[in-house]
Parts: sequence; C-alpha cells; structure tokens
Amino acid sequence: MERLQKVIANSGFTSRRKAEQLILEGKVKVNGIIVTELGYKVSDKDEIEVDGVPLNKEEKVYYLINKPRGCICAVSDDKNRPVVVDFLRKQGIKERVYPVGRLDYDTARVLLLTNDGELTNLLTHPKSQIEKTYLVRCEGIVSNDDLRRLRTGVEIDGYVTQKAKVNLLSVDRKNKSSQVRITITEGKYHQVKKMFEAIGHPVKKLRRERFAFLDVEGLKPGEFRPLKVHEVKQLYVLARYGQPEKIKGYKIRRY
Ligand code: URA
Repeated sequence: MERLQKVIANSGFTSRRKAEQLILEGKVKVNGIIVTELGYKVSDKDEIEVDGVPLNKEEKVYYLINKPRGCICAVSDDKNRPVVVDFLRKQGIKERVYPVGRLDYDTARVLLLTNDGELTNLLTHPKSQIEKTYLVRCEGIVSNDDLRRLRTGVEIDGYVTQKAKVNLLSVDRKNKSSQVRITITEGKYHQVKKMFEAIGHPVKKLRRERFAFLDVEGLKPGEFRPLKVHEVKQLYVLARYGQPEKIKGYKIRRY
C-alpha cells in the first residue's frame, strides 16, 4: 500500500506537491469516491481518477534517444515545433513517455525518456548527483584559469556551481574557439551555457555525451533503443545511493 499522492506522482502525472494540491482540492477519486485525505493509502487494485482522467497504469518503459538538434525536449509544443517524443511516436511507441530532465532545442545527443515517474523524480532530484558529461565548443581560447574556475565553481544567477570535472580537449587558434569536456552533477536551467558565459567563453555548440553510464553509441540522430533491465536497475541504484565508489564499504569484484 502506498500513499495516494506518491502513486499519482510516480505515475508521471504530476509532481508530489501538485498531487497533494489536487487531493486537497477534491479532484482525486479512488474507486469513484472523492478522497481529500493526504495520507490515504491505495493498492494496485484501486482505480484512481485525477480530474476525471483515469491514472495511467501502463507498463513502465525506458528509452535512450540520440536527440537531434532542432527539436524540443517535450511531449508537445503549442507552436507546433518538432518535439523529441515525435521520434518515438513515429515508430509506434504508444506509452506516454516524457524526457528525464531537459536538453535545449540546440543541444544534441543523450536523452532518457520514460513513463516511470518514480525513477524520473529520483534522477532529477539534486540529491542524486547523477553525472552528466557534455562536449562544448565555445568561443575564444580557454585558459588554465578558466578551467580552474569551471572546476571549482562559478557564479550563475547568484548561485555557485558545484565542483565539476573539466578537460580542455583542443583549441582552434584560427577560428578562436576551444573544445572542452565537462561533467556536472547538477541540472540547473541552461547550466553549461551559463557556466561558460560566466567565464567569458559563450557556448557555440553543445552536446551531451553521457547521462550516468549511458551513451548513444551506435544510434544515429533521432534513433532510440529501449534500456536493458540491468541498466534500469543500475539507474535506480545510482539515483538512490550515488556513485558505487562513493558508497561506504562498496567493493567491486575484479576478475
Ligand atoms: N546545459 C545547457 O546549458 N543546456 C543543455 O541543453 C544542457 C545543459
């Protein structure tokens, strides 16, 4: 048995806080009866309706897509621009999947899509510290001091970013640009672009190379694949307990 607001949030319908609000507003029915009690417990057998819509009980699915540039990280767009979910729909995927976190319209590559609200909430929670690695082409020649600032933290929107792993990969003196790989464990809005803006080297091109241990090797832009069961399990472990090497007493068997 689970609390009603948790079941609603985990279905991907909305956040836990919004679910609580909907319950208090009398917009949630369990087996046809309005429930306004926040601690109300429900089981798999209960029929839940939110705002007249039956709660989605579909099987959980997980996809990794190579997101092309020029599409929005959303389920739909009011201006009718291409959205990332279109690629799955065109291939007959019927489940109501949505992106885990955001990549900008002009950011390419690794993106996870699922209808598993619980995993989404875990992975996007700041506590989870999931590593996200980006390849950045930025304006100008990045100095050692710039790299140090990116590594130790720069101020964006009045907030100092957490430590990051940063490597300078190449510089193009003719075109005055640099290529940098950066791994961050946060997911603030436009974070990478703002970090590079803060050190005076605006981003020209951005792509995400890895999300946790996942990459899109073998997938062309717009192509996707389902996650393997062990990958889903590993994501749950990472999101709940952090990087294995950070878990106290964690041992890796070496063969
Ligand atoms: N940081 C950004 O600035 N944009 C993205 O798309 C992802 C991370």
